[in-house]
Amino acid sequence: MKGKEEQFSFTSENLKKAKKFIEVYPKGKEGSAVMPLLYLVQEQCGWVPEPAMCYVADMLHIPHIRVYEVANFYTMYNLKPVGKYLIRVCRTTPCWLCSSEEILNTFKKKLGINIGETTKDNLFTLKEVECFGACVNAPVVQINNDFYENLTPEKVESIIAELSNK
Ligand code: FES
Repeated sequence: MKGKEEQFSFTSENLKKAKKFIEVYPKGKEGSAVMPLLYLVQEQCGWVPEPAMCYVADMLHIPHIRVYEVANFYTMYNLKPVGKYLIRVCRTTPCWLCSSEEILNTFKKKLGINIGETTKDNLFTLKEVECFGACVNAPVVQINNDFYENLTPEKVESIIAELSNK
């Protein structure tokens, strides 16, 4: 389920998972399950559409605005559809000192997109994020669930070539 979402509901499997997350919290504090529930939404849709935020808020009996705030604060939530490969380039100081700017510029140039944009073929989306906690191997990039460390512009080019041919 990708693209514009008019309505949202969890699949039966995700509904079971959501209920398990909610059960972890004491009665009256179910709102604390907002982050894992938003993550489940993202797993299901590839991003977090607004109707899904309302659905999560209603499920947790909290105001919609509380879910919007969480979804907008954390960069791990995609607030619009993303490509098949979501590239997240770390921009925090240790990575920046190890030429993350050059890494970012290589992605931009090779893919022909800027930060926050998706390639026309819907293959790649480029994002900037804060520290992954892997600074010792800076510069670091996450693509979907994989981490790429000690990057160079040459390595970036071969990663793009490899993913483009999958
Ligand atoms: Fe990039 Fe920590 S600064 S991983």
